[in-house]
Amino acid sequence: MSSKSSIGPIGIFDSGYGGLTILNAIRNRLPQYDYLYLGDNARAPYGPRSFNIVYRFTLEAVKYLFEQGCNLVILACNTASAKALRTIQQNDLPNIDPSKRVLGVIRPTVEKIGEISKTGNIGILGTAGTVQSQSYDIEIEKLHPSFKVFSQSCPLWVPLVENLEAHNEGADYFVEKYINQLLTQSSDIDSIILGCTHYPILIDKIKKFTPQHINIVEQGGIVADSLADYLSRHPEMDIRCSKNGECTYLTTEDEDKFNNMASVFLNEQINSKHINL
Ligand code: DGL
Repeated sequence: MSSKSSIGPIGIFDSGYGGLTILNAIRNRLPQYDYLYLGDNARAPYGPRSFNIVYRFTLEAVKYLFEQGCNLVILACNTASAKALRTIQQNDLPNIDPSKRVLGVIRPTVEKIGEISKTGNIGILGTAGTVQSQSYDIEIEKLHPSFKVFSQSCPLWVPLVENLEAHNEGADYFVEKYINQLLTQSSDIDSIILGCTHYPILIDKIKKFTPQHINIVEQGGIVADSLADYLSRHPEMDIRCSKNGECTYLTTEDEDKFNNMASVFLNEQINSKHINL
């Protein structure tokens, strides 16, 4: 375990590739920091997995990132944020190292939605795991008790992205289908949260099938702003984050496979390293 005074990169964890959309936004906003991205591609997708499995896998990843010197880890995955974050923060961190921090993507998104929505009728699109966990409903109830939440799981969107079908005509059917299923729940929805890190890759099609007056809320910029705010409010953590502008990529799957697929999410060629959790 690293000592309290050691500095290290900010850990960014996702079940696989989706967190790269969050990493992208964070690096644009905070380019001076070092980042260590870990994709648990060998065990992805997390979306359909049970609470206990997502919790166990996420905890293993967080511990690994801590061992690599990260003092701050962002769960750049809605499913992991929904099913594992709270338990890790409350039960595990005090035993592992109370000076380290793990943050997720749901809370900052819910904080922001209060500024965006006029009607207070919010649509959530996410994986089955995120929707079933009701994490968005619970957080929105806490911060905006008068708001109403309508949710729709989109189980085929992650496979569409990962099979490079996001920009093909065949994807239209399932994009339209889930949006319609959400919008038939209420005609008052004025904001839709893309509550899965893969969904920004489908943004053109999502916009195509969503009425123009509805705000489509992507998380990357929101999480990046929230992290910048967190670091400015926590100088004791900020000084423990190294700042050489470097980014390292780790995957539990094959390196070449990760490098090729990552180019769908990032506009750069990367060299990842395989690790076992
Ligand atoms: N990264 C996950 C999320 O944001 C989607 C991929 C998966 O199901 O593992 O929910």
